[in-house]
Amino acid sequence: MNCKSIWIILLCTYILCNKVVVYAQQEDNLSRPVDLKCEHMFAPLGIDEPSPRLTWRLNDGAKGAKQMAYRIVVGLDSIDVAAGEENVWDSGKVDGQEGLVVYKGATLKPWTRYFWKVVVWDGNDRISNSDVSSFETGMMGEKGSWKGSWISDQHDIHYRPAPYFRKEFQAKKNIKSARAYIAVAGLYELSLNGKRVGNHRLDPMYTRFDRRTLYVTHDVTEWLTKGANAIGVVLGNGWYNHQSLAVWDFHNAPWRARPAFCLDLRIEYEDGTVETIRSERDWKTSSGPIVSNSIYTGEHYDARLEQEGWDSVGFDDSQWNSVRYRGAPSNLIVSQQMQPIRLVKTYHPQTLNKIDDTTYVFDMGQNMAGVTAVNLKGREGTVVKMKHGERLYDDGRVDMSNIDVYYRGDNVADPFQTDILILSGKKQDTFMPKFNYKGFRYVEITTTEPLDIDKSNVTSYFMHSDVRPIGSVKTSSELVNSLWEITNNAYLSNLMGYPTDCPQREKNGWTGDGHLAIESALYNFDAITVYEKWLADHRDEQQPNGILPDIIPTGGWGYGTANGLDWTSTIAIIPWEVYMFYGDSRLLEDCYDNIKRYVDYVDGISPNGLTTFGRGDWVPVKTTSNLELTSSVYFYTDARILASAAKLFGKEEDYKKYYALGEKIRDAINNKFLNRATGIYADGSQTELSVPLHWGVVPEESRAKVAANLNERVKENDFHLDVGVLGAKAILNALKDNGYGETAYKLAVQNTYPSWGWWVENGATTLLENWDLDAKRDISDNHMMFGEIGGWFFKSIGGILPDPEQPGFKNTLLKPIFPEGLEQSDVRYSSPYGEIRSTWEKEGDSVYYDIVVPPNASATFYMPSNVHDRKTVQLVAGSHRFKMRLRIER
Ligand code: BGC
Repeated sequence: MNCKSIWIILLCTYILCNKVVVYAQQEDNLSRPVDLKCEHMFAPLGIDEPSPRLTWRLNDGAKGAKQMAYRIVVGLDSIDVAAGEENVWDSGKVDGQEGLVVYKGATLKPWTRYFWKVVVWDGNDRISNSDVSSFETGMMGEKGSWKGSWISDQHDIHYRPAPYFRKEFQAKKNIKSARAYIAVAGLYELSLNGKRVGNHRLDPMYTRFDRRTLYVTHDVTEWLTKGANAIGVVLGNGWYNHQSLAVWDFHNAPWRARPAFCLDLRIEYEDGTVETIRSERDWKTSSGPIVSNSIYTGEHYDARLEQEGWDSVGFDDSQWNSVRYRGAPSNLIVSQQMQPIRLVKTYHPQTLNKIDDTTYVFDMGQNMAGVTAVNLKGREGTVVKMKHGERLYDDGRVDMSNIDVYYRGDNVADPFQTDILILSGKKQDTFMPKFNYKGFRYVEITTTEPLDIDKSNVTSYFMHSDVRPIGSVKTSSELVNSLWEITNNAYLSNLMGYPTDCPQREKNGWTGDGHLAIESALYNFDAITVYEKWLADHRDEQQPNGILPDIIPTGGWGYGTANGLDWTSTIAIIPWEVYMFYGDSRLLEDCYDNIKRYVDYVDGISPNGLTTFGRGDWVPVKTTSNLELTSSVYFYTDARILASAAKLFGKEEDYKKYYALGEKIRDAINNKFLNRATGIYADGSQTELSVPLHWGVVPEESRAKVAANLNERVKENDFHLDVGVLGAKAILNALKDNGYGETAYKLAVQNTYPSWGWWVENGATTLLENWDLDAKRDISDNHMMFGEIGGWFFKSIGGILPDPEQPGFKNTLLKPIFPEGLEQSDVRYSSPYGEIRSTWEKEGDSVYYDIVVPPNASATFYMPSNVHDRKTVQLVAGSHRFKMRLRIER
C-alpha cells in the first residue's frame, strides 16, 4: 500500500470516527432510558426472585422532559431484544411515567440469562430505546436445582485451623460459559486454577444461618480451560462458628458448627451440553497456613505451613484427607443479591514510629473498618503480631482500652483485634487476613526477632459493603464539609452486609443505630440492597409474638434487654424510608405482616396507648429524658407507618384500625406529657421537646409554642447540644422544620463541647460514640448512632426532601435554608429519576439559587423565611435559577 492510500484510509477513519462521535452526541441529547437495573443491581447474576423489579431512568436535559409511556421487552437473545422482538415478555406500550416495573412475563427458569430493554415515549411522542441490559437467574429456589452436597472436614467446632478443600476435573469440550454457585455456612474464598475468584470479601454475608443461608454466583468462564482444572475452597468461621468469647454469646449460637459448603460449578459447553462439577465425597481436605481465624479478634497465619499449588492442577494431595457429608444449615438457601464487601480504599502509613527494634507503630491517618496487609522477611519462626486500635498511649503504643471491654476471650492465645503472622524464613512473606476485619487507625507491629520494617511493608484497606456514593455536600464551610465526610466514614465503617454499631468493640447489628442513621445512609449511598437483606434478617429473628431482638442477626442475645420501640422500630422505619427514597414499596410489603405483629404486640402490653418498652435517650450529654415519652412516640410512629402502608396496599380495615390506634397513642402522649399552657413536654429537655416535634406528635395548635420553647432551650445552652441518640436524630429537624433553621444550623456547626464539631476540632475522622471525650464508657471512636448530622445537610442547606405523596423523588420538596455564616452551598443527590442539584451562593443582600430537577420529575420550591417576596413555586424538570433578596437582621 502506498503512502497516499494510507493517508486516505486514515482520513476516512477520522471522518467516520467523527461522524460516529457527532452521531453519538446527538443520541445523547435525545431523551433516553438509561441505568437499567434489575432488583436494584446492574446486570445481576443469580436472581432468585420470580417477579424481579426492573428500573430505569430517563436521560434528558430538556426543560419539562417527561416519559409519557414505556414498553419493556424481555427475551433470550440480545439481538432480537435490540430489534424489539421478544420471546419472553413484551409489556406492550403502557401509558405512564414510572421507572420501576415488576416483571410479569412467563415463569423465569433457573440458570438463564434474560436480556431486556425499555422503549420510552417522551412528551413530544418521540420514541427512544435503551441499550440492552440483562439479568441472569440462579437456582430460583427450586428443589432439585442444586446438584452438590454439603461437605466439611472431619473436625469439630473447637478446631482452630481453617479447612482447605480441593478437587481436579476435566472440562472435556470447549467452554461457552461457566458459573460457580457456592452456598456457605461460614465464610469462603474460592479459587480456580490457582487464582482467587472475584474481589468480594467476607462472603457470604452474615445471616441467621439456621433460618437463611446465602449462596453467591460467580461468572468463572475466564477462569477455566478445556482440559484439566483445579478448584480450591478455603472456609472461615465468620459468625457461624464463633470461637472467640464476648458478652453477646455468639459462641453459644444455636447454629454453631464447623463451617461447611455446597458448590455447583455449572459449565455450558459450546455444543450446548451442560456439566455440573459439584462438591462431593470425592473432594480432599487439609489444614493449611491459616491456623486460627475469628471475625471478632483476628487471624493467625503460619507461613511455614503454606502448600504451594494446593489449588492448581497436578498438586499431590495424597496426604490430604477425605471430606464428610453435612446437613444443609437451613431450609432456605437463597441468592445473595446485594453489593458485596470489597477493599474500597487503600491507605499507606502517614507516619511510622519505631519504638525499638521489635516494635513499630503506624498511623494510617484515617479511622476505618478494614484489614492490613504486610510483606515481611525474617528468620523462620519469627512471630509478628499486628495489633489494631483507634488510640495511642502517651508512649506511642496502641491503646485498645476503649474497645476491648466486652471481649472475654484469652488475650494470649486469641488477642483482640490482632493478627499473628509466623514467618517462613524462606521468602518475603505476604499476609492479609481473609476472614476478619477490624476497626482501627493505628497498627502496632511487634516481632519476636528484630526486623527491618518500613512504611512500604504495610498497607491498610478500608473495606465495607461497596455501595455506590450518590450524594455530595460541598460548601464554603470547612466544618460542614468535614461533618459530612466523617459521617460517611462512620457509616461505611459500619456497613458489612448489615449496619453495625462499631467495627471494633462489637460489630453488632444494633437496630437503633441502624434506623437512626437511615436518612444519612440513603442520601449518600445506593444501599437499598443492604437494607432489604437486613430486613429479611429481621423477619427471620422475629418471635411469633412480634418481639424483635435489639441486635440483628443474633445468636440469641438481645430478646430480653431493653429491646423496645426506640431500637426495634427498624421493622417499620427502614421499609418506610426506603419507600420514601426509592418509591419502591416491595420492602414495605414484605415487612407488612411483621410490622403489624410488632405493633399488635406493643398494643397488647400498652392498653392506655403509652409504653416504657425501650432504652431511652442513650448516651445523653447530661440531661436524661422521659422513657415513657420517647418510647411512646416511636410506638406512634410505627402505628402511623403501618396505617399509611395499609392505605397504600388497599387494606381498608387495617388502615382504619391503625390510624385510630395512632390517634389514641398521640392523645395519650399529649394528655400525659404536654402542658398545653406552657408548650412543654415532660421536663422540657431538648430531647423531650424535639422528639414529639420531629415525629409529628404535637397538636397543631401547640406546635409554634413547643418549637419556640425548644429554640429557647438551645439558646440558653449557648447553642450546644444536650441530647442522646434520640434527641440527636430529632433536634435539627424539629428546629428547622418549625421555623428555626438559623438555630438548627448554629447547633449543627457548633465547635465547642458538646457538639459534633467538637469531635472534628479534636481530630476525629469518623463520628464518635460519646460527646464527652473523657467519658469512661461507650467510647468507641467509630459509631453511627449520632449520624443524623450528615443527612441533615441534604435536608437543610440543600433542602432536598422526598414528597410522601409522590415518593422516590418523583416530586421533590425543596425547602432549603440560607443560614447566616454560610456563603455558598452545593448539595447533590442522585435520586431514582436522576441528579437533583441544589446550589446557592450569597452576594451582598442577595442569594442566587440554582436548581436542577431531573427529567420525568418535578419539584416544589418553598422559599425560606429569610427572603423577601417569599413564595412557593412548582418546578418542572430542567435547570432553574432564582435570585432572592435576603432579609438581613441588623
Ligand atoms: C452499642 C450501641 C447500642 C447500645 C444500646 C452499645 O454497646 O455500641 O451503639 O445501640 O449499646 O445499648
